[in-house]
Amino acid sequence: MVSMGSSLVGAIDVGTSKVCTLIGRKRGTTIEILGVGLSSSRGMKKGKVVDIAKISESVKESFALAIEIAKAVPDTLYVGISGDYISSLNLENEIFLGKGGREITDKDLLRAIEGSKSQVDLTAKRVIHVLPQDYLVDDEMGVADPVGMVASKLKVRTHLVLIQDNHFQSFLKVFRQTGLEVAQAVFQPLASSLAVLSPMEREIGTALIDIGAGTTDLSIFYGGSIRHSRIFPVGGEHITSDLAIGIRTYRDEAERIKVSYGCAFGSQVIGDDAVEVRDLGSSSLKTIERRFMCRIIEARVKEIFLLILREMRTSGAMPVLRGGVVLTGGTALLDGIVDFASSLLKLPARLGCPDSKYYVGMIQSIGNPIFSTACGLLQFAFGEKIERSIGKPLLLNLEEKGSKVISWLKDFFMIG
Ligand SMILES: Nc1ncnc2c1ncn2[C@@H]1O[C@H](COP(=O)(O)OP(=O)(O)OP(=O)(O)O)[C@@H](O)[C@H]1O
Ligand SMILES: [Mg+2]
Repeated sequence: MVSMGSSLVGAIDVGTSKVCTLIGRKRGTTIEILGVGLSSSRGMKKGKVVDIAKISESVKESFALAIEIAKAVPDTLYVGISGDYISSLNLENEIFLGKGGREITDKDLLRAIEGSKSQVDLTAKRVIHVLPQDYLVDDEMGVADPVGMVASKLKVRTHLVLIQDNHFQSFLKVFRQTGLEVAQAVFQPLASSLAVLSPMEREIGTALIDIGAGTTDLSIFYGGSIRHSRIFPVGGEHITSDLAIGIRTYRDEAERIKVSYGCAFGSQVIGDDAVEVRDLGSSSLKTIERRFMCRIIEARVKEIFLLILREMRTSGAMPVLRGGVVLTGGTALLDGIVDFASSLLKLPARLGCPDSKYYVGMIQSIGNPIFSTACGLLQFAFGEKIERSIGKPLLLNLEEKGSKVISWLKDFFMIG
């Protein structure tokens, strides 16, 4: 087994369609990917845990695959969290530093940032991130780093991400059942943005749209920080089920033809190309017009982008989106969807995948938009002060747990 020291990080993206585990460590300015594990996700719906036992099995499968390849257990674990039970809001908080003013310290900054939490009702909710946007030092606006400046007042603008506590507990239970301790749950759009958006895009104003299987996450970046975010409980799985109903076939057949022949611009598909598909209720094949299936797809894609457009407008961010939109998540691979987004939103659009130049090791598979969140989780872990979470053991205390659940891991590595 490889001994990795204390900086080996596990990142788990629990999606509605797949669970993806990456195991990585920092190597110079890059991240070395040592293990990748993918399993199909069971027990999640629209980004929410609906069956703890089933999703725990999927997590276990994905994690076991990754550690088998890496030949090591990570020291610490970061997991992505999404779903429409997460909400976010922008706040301002001011602290006073004394009449004559004094030098602003790191502690003051922390007090100002953390103080934002006191403005929200935390009954049945918990804060997962307080993300500073910018600072006001006395009357000077838009200060990026106020430490060391002399002032009598410090105001901070923050983006708070809140989660409903009951859902969060279920989410953590999934990992506990697998015998894993989560060091930090990270808001998925925040993670994906680190893997997919360039610092320039985050600065000049860009909307990141992660269309997965069960959720579509919109996050808007400007001035280097996240300014607005919203999770919609709709994604590629809804396109598949519309198709299954519309052409009377099985879900898996609908998924297959969506991926192989689907197109977001249904109205532009001309001609009478036909697609063979199994008929519902019998195993016999039937032919349907590709044009017809793509119109069904377009209707749902349009609905998703209209939701996004409305949210972008209400956020007030439209005028600042000089970087346009970046699409990621598996549904961003749907043929024509980038052009569709650009034409409906009237903004430049591009496909966003983790950029392989930032990674070494097992990078063959990660240049795909389904890996954006997991890669971003590693970026988050190494970009943040990871030391904070190190020391929190990855494996739960077996005696305390008194359970056989993680014997699979013990056996695997002959631990204990
Ligand atoms: N080539 C393709 N064309 C169209 N759709 C695709 C293609 N490849 C993958 N998808 C769709 O992408 C979705 C899976 O994407 P992803 O892995 O990002 O979702 P997830 O992370 O599991 O879900 P979520 O983030 O919504 O919880 C599925 O609905 C799948 O059908
Ligand atoms: Mg996802």
